[in-house]
Amino acid sequence: MSREIHIFDTTLRDGEQSPGFSMSLGQKLRVARVLKELNVDIIEAGFPAASPGDFDAVHAVASEIHGPVIAGLCRTIPRDIERTAQALEPAEKARIHTFIATSPIHRREKLNMSKGEVLVSAVNGVKMASELCKDVEFSAEDGIRTEREYLAEVLQAVIEAGATTLNIPDTVGYSTPTEMYELFSWLSKNVPGIENVRMSTHCHNDLGLAVANSLAAVEGGASQIECAINGIGERAGNCALEEVVMALRTRSDRYDAQVNIDTTRLISASHLLAAVTGNFVPRNKAIVGENAFAHEAGIHQHGMLASRETYEIMKPQDVGLQDSQLILGKHSGRHAVVDRAKAMGYTLEEGEISAIMERFKALADVKKRVFDSDLEAIITGSQTGTVGGPWSLNWLSVVSRINGESEPTASLTLAHEDGTTNTQTGEGDGPVEAMVHALEQVTEKRIKVLSLAMRSISLGEDAQGEASMRATVDGVEYSGHGLSTDIVAACAEALLEIINRATRAAEKVGQSNAA
Ligand code: KIV
Ligand code: ZN
Repeated sequence: MSREIHIFDTTLRDGEQSPGFSMSLGQKLRVARVLKELNVDIIEAGFPAASPGDFDAVHAVASEIHGPVIAGLCRTIPRDIERTAQALEPAEKARIHTFIATSPIHRREKLNMSKGEVLVSAVNGVKMASELCKDVEFSAEDGIRTEREYLAEVLQAVIEAGATTLNIPDTVGYSTPTEMYELFSWLSKNVPGIENVRMSTHCHNDLGLAVANSLAAVEGGASQIECAINGIGERAGNCALEEVVMALRTRSDRYDAQVNIDTTRLISASHLLAAVTGNFVPRNKAIVGENAFAHEAGIHQHGMLASRETYEIMKPQDVGLQDSQLILGKHSGRHAVVDRAKAMGYTLEEGEISAIMERFKALADVKKRVFDSDLEAIITGSQTGTVGGPWSLNWLSVVSRINGESEPTASLTLAHEDGTTNTQTGEGDGPVEAMVHALEQVTEKRIKVLSLAMRSISLGEDAQGEASMRATVDGVEYSGHGLSTDIVAACAEALLEIINRATRAAEKVGQSNAA
């Protein structure tokens, strides 16, 4: 009988803690809902002792998401463990995930602790955690670079102290697949009691080997894989959930293992995370990149026409892609859009359909065809908060100049939810800068653009451009997205999302100060 491999998702912890991937509480909840729909076994929702925001996020996920186990990370120190247990208190199924580094370099340089002291801290941490929660995972941070005999001694001691899952991370992405296989096989045979607990792998991608190493660990005896959507995580990231899951499934002949993931939701999960964090997935990314199921070379197309299996090892439908793009246009109605969205893996709530239809109709008016990717951008835009907010763009006119006497200018009119409108003109080195200056005048905010990425959402000359921006508003950093067939308008929409977020955040602070 094939082995069941648990998928432990750390998008909201290891992923979220990496630069450029931070999420608000609302965004974390959206991702957590998608993880539940994917049917991951465990959601690591955060590191409660790290900050009050992390605590609140873990608490909110534990309160709302039922089905998967909700895990919180903590060091092996009592204060961390207590906070984690408190954050997980509302969870239907909770796991305390406690860790301490075991490798010589971490013991010496980071912890300044002896082998014996690390062992005592690990055992005490696991004992305390297991008094508060019956499901306890222990991670030997930098386990891969730890002396084998000592690692085995620590693992045996924490099993005796109550650990139910043992994670041996490749914290720095240093291992190779052969080494992983050998280490896990060796631990399976040399740690008394290990047959009664689950062995887990957590691989970082510094050498691009995270997925290969995780698969090798499974061959060596691991039955839990820690991974993240789109492979996000510290530095070069973690093992990519979509890749490792599809590898286990596609090569079940080799791994004889099964996972509980609903793979038809992989694409929508990947795209939602990208939209929420403002980080595009590269076109050529395995499984979820736009080119993953695209064939252009004549020989390949010929082969595909003769038999799909000549050039495709997976079916696009298995990861949530449609075979062909449905052509939606300005004559399409609500039913067609809702049906199409459903087929793409998005269940639209009654309350959001009108806003999506409004944007869909506006786009269909300027485009001949609305592709799946256009529709998806509209949906994820509305779900990540593009629609709504005090300010909206009514009108924009931009003048670009090359080698001209005067600077480029941008004039725009914003409508405010209080019913007023305001028109201003800005100048700048380029049209985007001019537009930023006009926005600053209308909203009376100080805006500093930190990054701007543009990509074409669909095909053809009338394709929509998606702008993904990060900017500070009065010194606080936010991210936003904008979508338009005009790229300066897409940037204006992205900045308006940012300004609206900043305005809402300032209102909240004002309310809590007044209370
Ligand atoms: O990379 C790592 O070692 C970790 C542990 C805390 C699990 O993220
Ligand atoms: Zn990690």
